Amino acid sequence: MVVSLSASVLLFPKRLCCYSSCVEVSGWGGLEAWRKSPLNENRRWGPNGPEGEVGEFGEGEGEACSLAELGSMVLSTSDPLTKSHLSHMAYSIWRRRNFPIGISKPPSTPARPQYPQLVSPKEIPAPKDSGLPLNAYMLHNLAHVELNAIDLAWDTVVRFSPYREILGDGFFADFAHVADDESRHFSWCAQRLAELGFKYGDMPAHNLLWRECEKSSDNVAARLAVIPLVQEARGLDAGPRLVKKLVGFGDNRSSKIVARIADEEVAHVAVGVYWFVSVCQKLGCAPDSTFKDLIKEYNVELKGPFNHSAREEAGIPRDWYDSSFTSHQDKKGKDDNKKQLSEVYDRLASIIAMESENSSLTKPPE
Ligand SMILES: *[C@@H]1O[C@H](CO)[C@@H](O)[C@H](O)[C@H]1NC(C)=O
Ligand SMILES: *[C@@H]1O[C@H](CO)[C@@H](O)[C@H](O)[C@H]1NC(C)=O
Ligand SMILES: *[C@@H]1O[C@H](CO)[C@@H](O)[C@H](O)[C@H]1NC(C)=O
Repeated sequence: MVVSLSASVLLFPKRLCCYSSCVEVSGWGGLEAWRKSPLNENRRWGPNGPEGEVGEFGEGEGEACSLAELGSMVLSTSDPLTKSHLSHMAYSIWRRRNFPIGISKPPSTPARPQYPQLVSPKEIPAPKDSGLPLNAYMLHNLAHVELNAIDLAWDTVVRFSPYREILGDGFFADFAHVADDESRHFSWCAQRLAELGFKYGDMPAHNLLWRECEKSSDNVAARLAVIPLVQEARGLDAGPRLVKKLVGFGDNRSSKIVARIADEEVAHVAVGVYWFVSVCQKLGCAPDSTFKDLIKEYNVELKGPFNHSAREEAGIPRDWYDSSFTSHQDKKGKDDNKKQLSEVYDRLASIIAMESENSSLTKPPE
């Protein structure tokens, strides 16, 4: 296939500058600090929170010499802890050695261990039938989400690597960074499960998360809408509830791990918002209606209850996911926040319109 490039690609940096000054109005304030943060080596959960791992993990010598190839290696690794280590190693190597983004083809499905058995959501046992105490049950579910999140982020890096010239290196840097965070989260969950006498794989899990990822493999805008803006945003809603349940259960150590994870997920949703708006600009479409159209087209359910304050902090405008909010606010005529946002988008959209091109962002690579 042909990735069409035009003069507008050359204007990309200028557009990005404009965009980042605009995004300060509405986006998550911590994004730049997150991007610049040093490599996070706190992959163990110590007595008082995250700490560095005991023992050094070598960087290994592989064939891979680009970020996309390293990502493919992670996706092709089935053992969960190895996947998690490799994910961190891939991101570290890429940052330290200044490897290029490169191009690679992801496996059609990421490699998975024999256990947990993957079943339909209906077949997931209730806590009382699972053989796990409630805290381990909840950690197992979260470990499953985090393991999937590693693959989802790397799949986004690798699958869209042929579009580097259009998307820009920052896109890949951000999603590899997300993968690194998720791999740390998995390792905390796995460690805590082990402390409780269990391990990932001790009860069945579902395969819904990957299915949504697969559905959106042909379209980068859809991938961003479906994964960070819907799936990861759900974590913002569910995280604080899970923390409360764990405290109620009497497992404060687990609750602290979950609280930290939920806190760090804000960055991932914010990254999703940033790149979704950026891709919409390049395609010359309005982010809010594009988001709603994609959700409909890809048949994704927007399930509450929503944590509006957490979502707002991450930069998701409420009218994107809460239809009652739009009509309610319109009626009351005090939709200042929303109006401000749409002005930002309109301004961005007109800049892009001037530079618009027929890009192939919506087509899958061969
Ligand atoms: C657990 O945390 C709760 C709330 O943070 C606190 O009230 C309680 O004392 C803690 N329990 C233990 C055993 O530390
Ligand atoms: C919403 O999320 C924030 C963290 O961003 C948390 O402090 C708050 O308790 C959450 N609210 C509910 C109702 O879960
Ligand atoms: C985009 O492509 C269509 C048909 O492929 C063509 O008619 C149109 O002129 C193109 N627009 C630009 C801005 O190149």
